[in-house]
Amino acid sequence: MLSRTLVLKVASWSLVEHIVRKTFLFRSLVKRFVAGDTLDEVIPVCEDLVARGFFTTLDLLGENVKSVEAAVAAKNAYIEMLRRIGQSPCRPRTNISIKLTQCGFDQGDELTEAHYREVLDFAQAMDECFVRVDMESSAYTERTLRLVEKVWSDYKNTGTVLQSALYRTPQDAQQLIDLGIRVRLVKGAYLEPERVAYQDKSKVDEAFVDVAKKLMLEGNYPAIATHDEAIIDQLLAFAKERKIESERFEFQMLLGIRRDLQEKLREAGYHVRIYVPFGESWYPYFSRRLAERPANMFFILKSLLKG
Ligand code: FDA
Repeated sequence: MLSRTLVLKVASWSLVEHIVRKTFLFRSLVKRFVAGDTLDEVIPVCEDLVARGFFTTLDLLGENVKSVEAAVAAKNAYIEMLRRIGQSPCRPRTNISIKLTQCGFDQGDELTEAHYREVLDFAQAMDECFVRVDMESSAYTERTLRLVEKVWSDYKNTGTVLQSALYRTPQDAQQLIDLGIRVRLVKGAYLEPERVAYQDKSKVDEAFVDVAKKLMLEGNYPAIATHDEAIIDQLLAFAKERKIESERFEFQMLLGIRRDLQEKLREAGYHVRIYVPFGESWYPYFSRRLAERPANMFFILKSLLKG
């Protein structure tokens, strides 16, 4: 946890951001996690993954827009993503994720709701294309869940994400199960205070397994989003024991992480969806991926020393 905190802190310094953005050295590492800057670059990545038997989710990087104009631009970009997916052979296996702070959450709930509904309208007309609302830091959890629930009563092609790091998640999972709203379960990518979240990784992992089992038994097509092979093995054993068919849930992983495991699960006949991020605002996402695994930092340091 300490090294993750440290990496995220150092990554937030603007000088470090400048170096990472400008240095050639980082380009191949960035490319591993981020599919490109534009839709022209990212749609072929999804098409390739789908041709290989995966499902994909397109994610436009960026968060916390600073103005109404930027929120409108993000909403228009989401609609453009859907339009381009609709023209592509990857369409039946591709959907999108959106972030409410890109839709204008810091500018106001009404604006955000209007943008979210406009995106869903467009997606619904595309044969119910699914739109998932990513979960951001705990400052937004309550508002995100209430808005998804509100909008879900009119649009069934939406769902959201729960983070096992948060103490509140078992109750939220029950609520979303009762309503029939689709959930992606993750561990949680944000640094959260002890007041709201487990600080001990083993507790986050334990909670992940407990909530995942509940979702697999009672949830509406849950997404188990982790690269943790030990957890995945436990959940596969659980599915076997409780006779939960493989079509009732899916695994989700991030582009470029544990590609071996992605292949292995797909070959074993499970639904595996790859989350494919793209866009110019890749820096915060990239720092979170670096912080998750100190080995990524060692790779950079090794290359720096070599060069
Ligand atoms: P953990 O961090 O314990 O890693 C398990 C293993 O995976 C590691 O031992 C390593 O082998 C591999 N691994 C993990 N991260 C790696 C990396 N960066 N580089 C190389 N190897 C790595 N979070 C959030 O707060 N809100 C959200 O909406 C989402 N959405 C989302 C979608 C999808 C599809 C995924 C897979 C994840 C998210 N997340 C997220 C991120 C999530 O919360 C979490 O930060 C990451 O998935 C890493 O946690 P793991 O579950 O993989 O476990």
